[in-house]
Amino acid sequence: MNLPPHIQFRMHELVWLEVMINLCVFLALFPDGESGSMIAQVQEHFPELLSSDSEPSCATDVIKWVFDHSDQARLDALQLKLPDFERWIRVAYDISCTGRSYEPSGSVRGALTTIFCAIPLHSMGTREEFKADRLSKWADFCQGPYEMVDVDGEHYTMLSETHVSSFAERLRGAIGRSQLPKDSAIPRPKLDFDAIPIIDFSLYSSDKGKYFQQMQYALEDVGFGILVNAPGFEDTFQKELFSLADQLFNKPQEWRDELGTSTSYSLRGYFRADTIQGHHKAFAEAYRFGLEMPSPPADAPFWLRLHEGPNQWPREDDLPRFRSMMETLFQQYRNLNITLNEHVCQLLNIPNKVLNDFFPSKAEFNSAIWHYFPVTPEILSEAQDGFLQGMHEHRDPSTFLTCLIQSRAGLQAKNHAGTWVDVPMVPGGVVFNIGMQLMKLTGGKFVATTHRVNTLKIDTDRFVPEAYIRHDDF
Ligand SMILES: [Fe+2]
Repeated sequence: MNLPPHIQFRMHELVWLEVMINLCVFLALFPDGESGSMIAQVQEHFPELLSSDSEPSCATDVIKWVFDHSDQARLDALQLKLPDFERWIRVAYDISCTGRSYEPSGSVRGALTTIFCAIPLHSMGTREEFKADRLSKWADFCQGPYEMVDVDGEHYTMLSETHVSSFAERLRGAIGRSQLPKDSAIPRPKLDFDAIPIIDFSLYSSDKGKYFQQMQYALEDVGFGILVNAPGFEDTFQKELFSLADQLFNKPQEWRDELGTSTSYSLRGYFRADTIQGHHKAFAEAYRFGLEMPSPPADAPFWLRLHEGPNQWPREDDLPRFRSMMETLFQQYRNLNITLNEHVCQLLNIPNKVLNDFFPSKAEFNSAIWHYFPVTPEILSEAQDGFLQGMHEHRDPSTFLTCLIQSRAGLQAKNHAGTWVDVPMVPGGVVFNIGMQLMKLTGGKFVATTHRVNTLKIDTDRFVPEAYIRHDDF
């Protein structure tokens, strides 16, 4: 829209008074041709403005003077009152100051970039000079095609009542020439599913096209997938983890209670979910832990307490290798998350850093090893509508991608028709599902699917070490 990518030089030229006068010209409160004499008149009435770059102490008086000397019929037509005019000038000046340090970065890929060129400010020379010297720099930020389209009017008037309809015509033309498919802005209906897709991670190296085709279906339509051959998640490694979990939860109840969350400032350690009353009661127990960190201060918000803090690890001689194996697992989870983020970015045709920038440099995570109890005749009577609560129905609220390994089936995902679909146990497989944060970031292109754990599907102990890799809030 007639602005070059590099604007610092111009923003430094614009002192407070000029920002105000420019805004008046944009609003047609007096003609562009009179802006010079208006500046001279203001400086005559307020001589202290001559050397003032920042907002002067007499700003309110100056704004009122300019307001009073503006085209009153135009102000009425705009229904613009003095307080709103004053606020607008302050916002415009703040934006101008921000532009003094603005460095353009990034690039447009996979789409046509159109630069609309009006008659520039007098100080920028002719339109052709402005295009050659300034606007053409946009080419440095386009990895696809780009074009310059002349539009009617001057910099201040290209969107005025006189020129707006011809501008709209040229804008429609540019959209029509866009490289994007015409229906790209309209989300396509989700394909339904009656099974969770199993995706061979090694296809990324051997057949990228096939890999991304399968990932696209998993991310956009199902919201779930199971990766096999993901590096660091070999079946033997997973079996050893499940065995350690089995040993942990087979320790005497008193031993487990000594690691209880009730004694932990950050609620890390062991807890039972089957003794909870109400909606979150579940036929399960769990051991919460995360990256070993010092306790946050006493006045830290509750969510930070849950993110950070020391763990209650079992003694090494009580449960040899437990801690080191869990820490290895979560380093693998983090590595996989970073890799999958990069794959997601490739799928979306955006730079890798778009998602990875949300991840802290430290391998922070929150984690729980869940132990889902098998169904027994005693608890069977609590089943309703084919469901016995191992985990309540939910979508993951605060993750991009949740990854988990499971010793057996029991997890279910709800398809678009409302039918529960079993997530099978695949030896050496890693289940992943979209969290609501990633769904929001992609505008719903990726789907966060409702899921639950159904104890009716669990006939013997089910262990699930899972991790939520922490990302920065946004
Ligand atoms: Fe979940």
